[in-house]
Formats: sequence, structure tokens, C-alpha cells
Amino acid sequence: MVNPKYHIFVCTSCRTNGKQQGYCYSKDSVGIVETFMQEIDERGLSGDVMMTNTGCFGICNQGPIVVIYPEGVWYGGVTPDDVEEIMDTHIEGGEVVKRLQI
Ligand code: FES
Repeated sequence: MVNPKYHIFVCTSCRTNGKQQGYCYSKDSVGIVETFMQEIDERGLSGDVMMTNTGCFGICNQGPIVVIYPEGVWYGGVTPDDVEEIMDTHIEGGEVVKRLQI
């Protein structure tokens, strides 16, 4: 059984018909996913950090949305350039990135 220390959810505006279409997708959320994957791999954290891309969280106007558990912290307006700071501060530092929290 997978029991990660952190689980990161990134809205990529996935639809049940398999097509991605929506606000977060239009704002490069796939780039956010790719950057998280790269950072997790480079830091050797693949056993501790799981990432899942999701459908709409219902707050598109604050997107792209990233949600991190176990804390249940929601980040909004995230860009691929913010991923390194989230990894440094939240995942490895245990602190919330206040400027992105919603
Ligand atoms: S499309 Fe991402 S929150 Fe709605």
C-alpha cells in the first residue's frame, strides 16, 4: 500500500470524457504537474510525495489550484515558477507558502 507523507493535487481541468478543458488547464497547469514531477524526482522524494492531477475544484477564478495533504492547504494562482518554492518551503520545510495560500 502506498502511504506517502504528502499528497499533492493539481487541477488540470480534467473532464470525465477524457478531454482537458478549463481555466487551470488554460493557465499551464500541465506545466505545474511536469515541474512537480521533475522536482520530486530530482530531490529523491518519490517515495514520500505523491502527486495526482484532478478535475475542477469549483474555484476556477482563483486557479490554477494546488491542494496539499495531510494539511489540506489550498494554493491559488500557482505557476510552474512557484513549484520550487512550494517544494522548498512546504514539502521540505514544513511551512505554508503564505503568499499563495487561499
Ligand atoms: S478548472 Fe481548476 S478549479 Fe476549476
